[in-house]
Amino acid sequence: MSTANDTAALKTSVNDYLNLLSGAIRLASSSLSEWLSLVVLLTLFLTGLGSPAQTIELSVDTSKPGPTINRNLFGQFAEHLGHGIYGGIWVGPNSNIPNTRGIRNDVVTALKALKVPNVRWPGGCFADEYHWRNGIGPADKRAVTLNPNWGGVIEPNTFGTHEFMDFLDQIGADAYVSINVGSGTVKEAADWLEYMTAAQPTTLQKERAANGHPDAWKVGYLGLGNESWDCGGNMSPDYYVSQMKKFSRFVRNYNPAQQDKDQMLKIAVGPGGDGPRWTEWTDTVMKAYQQHTWSWDINGLSMHFYTVPHWPPSLKSVGFGEDDYAQILKTTLEMNDLIATHSAIMDKYDPQKKVALFVDEWGGWYAPLPGSNPGFLVQQNSLRDAILAALNLDIFARHADRVRGANIAQMINVLQSMILTDNKKMVLTPTYYVFKMYVPFQDATFVPVTFNAGTYTHGGITLPRVDAIAAKDKAGKLWLAITNIDPDQPVEIDASVVGGSVKSATGETLTAPKVDSVNTFDAPDAVVPKPISANLEGDKLTLKLQPKSVTVVGIE
Ligand code: AHR
Repeated sequence: MSTANDTAALKTSVNDYLNLLSGAIRLASSSLSEWLSLVVLLTLFLTGLGSPAQTIELSVDTSKPGPTINRNLFGQFAEHLGHGIYGGIWVGPNSNIPNTRGIRNDVVTALKALKVPNVRWPGGCFADEYHWRNGIGPADKRAVTLNPNWGGVIEPNTFGTHEFMDFLDQIGADAYVSINVGSGTVKEAADWLEYMTAAQPTTLQKERAANGHPDAWKVGYLGLGNESWDCGGNMSPDYYVSQMKKFSRFVRNYNPAQQDKDQMLKIAVGPGGDGPRWTEWTDTVMKAYQQHTWSWDINGLSMHFYTVPHWPPSLKSVGFGEDDYAQILKTTLEMNDLIATHSAIMDKYDPQKKVALFVDEWGGWYAPLPGSNPGFLVQQNSLRDAILAALNLDIFARHADRVRGANIAQMINVLQSMILTDNKKMVLTPTYYVFKMYVPFQDATFVPVTFNAGTYTHGGITLPRVDAIAAKDKAGKLWLAITNIDPDQPVEIDASVVGGSVKSATGETLTAPKVDSVNTFDAPDAVVPKPISANLEGDKLTLKLQPKSVTVVGIE
């Protein structure tokens, strides 16, 4: 929302600058020191550090609670791709990198702090060529295969079902398993689920026990294929539906603890972008859902949307300027309309919103880092990505009635990751810190917040200057997340709470000197959150937000 007040505030600010500058120029005519003042003032003008903060009135209305912000909106995605699994999670039990049964301890510790709700695995495109039997049994007897999707490298299959489930146990997350619909059979997938979930002494249960895990595993989410319109088999919507019904019917979860409650959710392949091809896809799957019988069902529809202004991804992940910054954030905000478009189609066939929208691949996708294997999708992760992540999480929260799952792509070393590793070294990315700061929003109740967003304009692109969401956690504490997109101008937030009083607000803010500031192995703390607290002025909390920052505060 942008109003006349905003425009007036913007004009006042510009006038302030002009007055400041003309004063400085008058002074500068007499001496060297005054010339220096001019240089300093010009620098402050250009960087925005010396600018008066724009004031934004923000009101949180606790009397109108909205839907639950499902914790699954903070899901992760780990594909057999580059060093996402091998090197990133799995180093093997004999590695000199500290590990527990082959899984890196440093990565597990970092991920535990994110309270990761679920991990989608084994792909991506990899999933539709994955044959689960290659990944069970003694490690030295496992088939060595290839990974044609991602660099054509050797797939050792040393990380398979048991290792994945062990990893989930170690970080405390649920399994989101994508089955092979593209090149596998219904029987292969049905056997895999029986292998993972059967408690009765079937042959497959006994095989699992012999491989070290007698107890049935929980499989919370089942992906019925991946991008079946493209790398998953290039199917038409009708053909996909006819295939999907069989997988939905016969691929069963036998875990006794998941029969009445905690049932496995089946996620069908959904759209992959904007335009008629994708609306037709959603329409076809949802129409079939509306007509479904007792014999098959779906509980979710997947949606993939990467922030890429033009394919193939060519923008840089580090060493870019404000042009790219504005362009990428403009593109990422398209997520909102895409969700709205596909939610509207879903509403037509499922007005009760039984089928969740799972945005199970999202994030910024840039050019591969120079010198890296282009098939490994290696990119840096900057302050811009932290802001991108916050904006998307806010969009998901605002659509929380329909969007009940999302998985950022991808967890480690691939695309917009949480963590980068290089052999023994590990660094946490700016995106990691946003996920950490947003933990209080997991399963919290959405609370409406109204504010005048203002505008930020660069190179013909105009974006809202500020974004914000609020939520109440299970203990009744109110949380506010605010992003200041503007890379130059600080913002002052005057926050009030309708239906409650405010005493204090404390939390963390994430910013850095430049939009492309990154954490590296040598400088891991360039972009890390810092404490922030609000001042109480009358019945309002006043928060000063730095340019290009993400802030989360808990309100008492
Ligand atoms: O995340 C990388 C790839 O992007 C996934 O394998 C695929 O599903 C998508 O196209």
